[in-house]
Amino acid sequence: MSSNTSPPKPYTQQLETIGFLATGIAHDFSNLLTSIVGQTSLALATLPQDNAARSHIEKAMQAAEFAAELTRQLLTYANSEDAPNELIDLNQLINDTIGLLNTTLLNGLSLQLDLANNLPPIEAKRAHMQQIIMNLIINAAESIENGQGIVLLRTGIEILREHDNRYKFANGRSPLPGSYTFLQITDTGCGMSCQQLQKIFSPFFTTKPTGRGLGLSTVLDIVSFYQGGITVESQPQLGTTFCIFLPLPTHLGIMPNLDLLH
Ligand SMILES: Nc1ncnc2c1ncn2[C@@H]1O[C@H](COP(=O)(O)OP(=O)(O)OP(=O)(O)O)[C@@H](O)[C@H]1O
Ligand SMILES: [Mg+2]
Repeated sequence: MSSNTSPPKPYTQQLETIGFLATGIAHDFSNLLTSIVGQTSLALATLPQDNAARSHIEKAMQAAEFAAELTRQLLTYANSEDAPNELIDLNQLINDTIGLLNTTLLNGLSLQLDLANNLPPIEAKRAHMQQIIMNLIINAAESIENGQGIVLLRTGIEILREHDNRYKFANGRSPLPGSYTFLQITDTGCGMSCQQLQKIFSPFFTTKPTGRGLGLSTVLDIVSFYQGGITVESQPQLGTTFCIFLPLPTHLGIMPNLDLLH
């Protein structure tokens, strides 16, 4: 895996600009968040255990810690060449990320997990993987307009053979033969038209009033960096399935467990 070389960036210029912006504001933002976390912990320390305001303040603190983590991730992404690769338990990271996302966004949703046992580790930068998981879950949750619906996350492994044409990767690449870990996210949300599907990976494309249109372009960029792929299937009013494929680090002797095959 050529993970130490620069990622092939399909939208290099826009993303470089974002990188500069992110680096510029992240430092100040991080200081502000430190102050928010500090002040809320002081407030908590002075409140009696049975005070009804405690749970609200604790949630505010969690949100501020989450925002601080996002800021760190943004910086890590902007300077991703500096961060080391790690062997990551994807299932564990999914659970951790869901813990961070435990906000009003997920209220009322049925978040279901179907995570493969004994999934081999992936080799990647943790911040990258967390961004993928977070962006895809947030999009899935946001697609469910009345808040009543299902978001299903599945993991497993898949072996792609020569001339395997089951998958069409969104980065235009033909999937290389090999063993992949996959993460699939299915929602029962609003779905997308064919025309919309053509545009969703472009930076700044959004259909949301407060969207930035950066989630999926970032996901695509990260997945391409790891020589992986992403597929998407969607039907208006019925829902959407994104699936990301990341090559197994077979150079480390990590081989697919055939029981996990898709
Ligand atoms: N699961 C989904 N269901 C339906 N539409 C989706 C889904 N995921 C993405 N989209 C569409 O793709 C667009 C681009 O998504 P993307 O994550 O890049 O940006 P965004 O969610 O609009 O903003 P943000 O930068 O805050 O993530 C969305 O505005 C939406 O129209
Ligand atoms: Mg998004």
